[in-house]
Amino acid sequence: MQSRYFTINDFPQGTPARELFELHEAELTTLAEGEVRIRNTWLSVDPYMRGRMSGVKTYIDPFVIGEPLEGAAVGEVIESRDTRLTVGDKVRHMAGWRDIAQLPGDQVEALPDIEVPEQTYLGVLGMPGMTAWTGLNRIAGMRDGDNVLVSAASGAVGSLAVQLAKARGGTVVGIAGAPEKLAWLESHGIQAVSYRGKDAQQLTEALQAVCPEGFDVYYENVGGVCLEAALNTLRVNGRIAVCGMIARYNAEGPMPGPSNLPMVLIKRLRMQGFIIFDHWSDYPRFLEEVGPKVANGEIDYAETVEEGLERTPDAFLALFAGTNTGKMLVRL
Ligand SMILES: NC(=O)c1ccc[n+]([C@@H]2O[C@H](COP(=O)([O-])OP(=O)(O)OC[C@H]3O[C@@H](n4cnc5c(N)ncnc54)[C@H](OP(=O)(O)O)[C@@H]3O)[C@@H](O)[C@H]2O)c1
Repeated sequence: MQSRYFTINDFPQGTPARELFELHEAELTTLAEGEVRIRNTWLSVDPYMRGRMSGVKTYIDPFVIGEPLEGAAVGEVIESRDTRLTVGDKVRHMAGWRDIAQLPGDQVEALPDIEVPEQTYLGVLGMPGMTAWTGLNRIAGMRDGDNVLVSAASGAVGSLAVQLAKARGGTVVGIAGAPEKLAWLESHGIQAVSYRGKDAQQLTEALQAVCPEGFDVYYENVGGVCLEAALNTLRVNGRIAVCGMIARYNAEGPMPGPSNLPMVLIKRLRMQGFIIFDHWSDYPRFLEEVGPKVANGEIDYAETVEEGLERTPDAFLALFAGTNTGKMLVRL
């Protein structure tokens, strides 16, 4: 059986070009004892993958030029030599960016038994959702009534973060780019502010206009002007959960830090970064709390879907163009 998979042919500088990605086809080896073969049905593309294209080890190894790329995927077992998995099982694993995956069974997990579409285990009930929940609850220590500011608020992580925050009763403001994203936020009762075309002072004023009393928590996904405006609008003893800084991921050189960093001192702010893999032991707790609410519609989620394996690089690049609302996915 053949597997088609993507590789990169270089470590890109700046925004990756479409030509960076190459589609290959290879014959799979006979299944070894303990291995499974999976027909992937949905692939995830995520901003952290850009870091893996830099050639530098951070909290995770870089991708290897010419080797199949990796990423979260869900699919169906089509052949198994692992006694724990049988043909037809729906599973999640990290051998994405390809149509047919073959890997040891101990690197594959069966999808949880909740009545939701399978691709939600890549989004609202997968790593991005778990990241939103962890950042607010474990890192920022969100309390009832907190006013919460979220950047990249209509994305995979942000769109759950704003809903979890809203349920705690405070004012919730989401920063996003395109008008349709602002509309999605507003339709969910979230005050929405665009960062597009604004410098830090203008964004600060726009945030003050919708939340004059200021924020207790800032859920940071972007950096740049969003962080600077957040530092200006946080209250004394505010908390910042640093989840991501996507405005920097394609930077070709050092970028200036926020000019108002002394606000951390003046306002006695607490700022903490986190990597979700360190918190994965909490995943069952997250699923128990958030899973039923997704299943019964209390928590909504959005998806932007590209069709077909060939479109995977385009889906990935859309994350940086900001054309996705909710989780960016590829359906195979
Ligand atoms: N710490 C962790 O373990 C962890 C885990 C998962 C994700 N993350 C981080 O969480 C953040 C969100 O990830 P996600 O998967 O939910 O992605 P996402 O928000 O679904 O997609 C990325 C969004 O970022 C915004 N964006 C892109 N370039 C930007 C720029 N230069 N300036 C401002 N906004 C920009 C765009 O929305 P706009 O329309 O708003 O511009 C885009 O749609 C990322 O920073 C990611 O690295 C961290």
